[in-house]
Amino acid sequence: MTQNRLYFFDTTLRDGEQAPGCSMTAAEKLKMARTLESLGADILEAGFAAASDGDAAAIQTIATEVRGPVIASLSRSRKEDIMRAAEALEPARRSRIHIFLASSDIHLQYKLRISRDEALNQAGESVRLAKQYVDEVEFSPEDSTRTDLDFLCRMVSIAIEAGATTINLPDTVGYAIPAEYAAMFRTILEKVPGADKVILSTHCHNDLGLAVANTLAAIEAGARQVECTINGIGERAGNAAIEEIAAALHVRQDKFPIEHGLDLTKLYPASQELASTISFGPSPNKAIVGANAFAHEAGIHQHGVLSNPLTYEIITPSAVGVPSNRMVLGKHSGRAALRARLIQLGYQLEAAEIEAVYHAFTALADRKKAVYDQDLINLVAQRERKAGLVSANS
Ligand code: KIV
Ligand code: ZN
Repeated sequence: MTQNRLYFFDTTLRDGEQAPGCSMTAAEKLKMARTLESLGADILEAGFAAASDGDAAAIQTIATEVRGPVIASLSRSRKEDIMRAAEALEPARRSRIHIFLASSDIHLQYKLRISRDEALNQAGESVRLAKQYVDEVEFSPEDSTRTDLDFLCRMVSIAIEAGATTINLPDTVGYAIPAEYAAMFRTILEKVPGADKVILSTHCHNDLGLAVANTLAAIEAGARQVECTINGIGERAGNAAIEEIAAALHVRQDKFPIEHGLDLTKLYPASQELASTISFGPSPNKAIVGANAFAHEAGIHQHGVLSNPLTYEIITPSAVGVPSNRMVLGKHSGRAALRARLIQLGYQLEAAEIEAVYHAFTALADRKKAVYDQDLINLVAQRERKAGLVSANS
């Protein structure tokens, strides 16, 4: 195992797809799987085979057609689910069954209605069974972050002994804070025999807006797989967003001396493709892929970015596949952005003319939310007409 290689496990097609407004047809899932492959995701969780015949069929098609990444299916800790997953994954070049089983008392008591000992037995048995059918077995103690730590260590230890190759510690309900999530990984590494021989994985939900922060904290603590989705889609407030994790690792290489296989320039196209496939896109202020992520309206910022983008941009738009940054002309904009836009529109105006257009522009911007190219063309035309009248009359 390379200690510095980080594996991206994309669950857009499973945790992402199971969120409201995010379902996809089998054809859409296959197209998205190809996009995720070209993005460089290492593992694709293609669905949950036991959830429906349609999902099983979609996993099987992806396993047949998409040959680069490991293809995974989610599975409850039950024989029927494991067999459905194994069957759907049969054509895969490399296959993984991802077994989850609740570990927190609240889930054991109110959801599964089983004792801790019963859960430990199920964990060992299901991993041993899955091992017979696939190349890799991942085990997730669901709701890890609300689980008694000693019990979590016992469950993880049993899963490793039974042959799990990846141990995922999900923050199922987005409850953890970064230092605490990192400490959980350190404890597992310290206390569980063999934990340093498997891949430890993060899976963070965004209920408190901390999914990416928690993911990064766990990487610092030794996690070497991150589970994430395009645009951060997923249950409730979503999962950790792949584009945010990748950009953070890129911008802060000083803190994360780590290798991975993602091609960052494919992030924005993947985000756009997902947005056009499901019912919604990222919010405008979404980091990295939102419409405003590289847009500037305030005059001071526009002036800075026009003279050197590094003044207000920590990553270039092209590094993540965004075609360019954008100067939005509105009431907060200054002369520098106006001049730059007028030049792009083909107007080479003298300083005095720019000043006059600028005054007309600010008056208009006070009345309108945004000033478009056609507004600028009209303003210049008005100025030219006025100037023509003045010189004709004089
Ligand atoms: O959030 C969660 O706990 C999950 C598991 C199935 C890994 O999605
Ligand atoms: Zn989840």
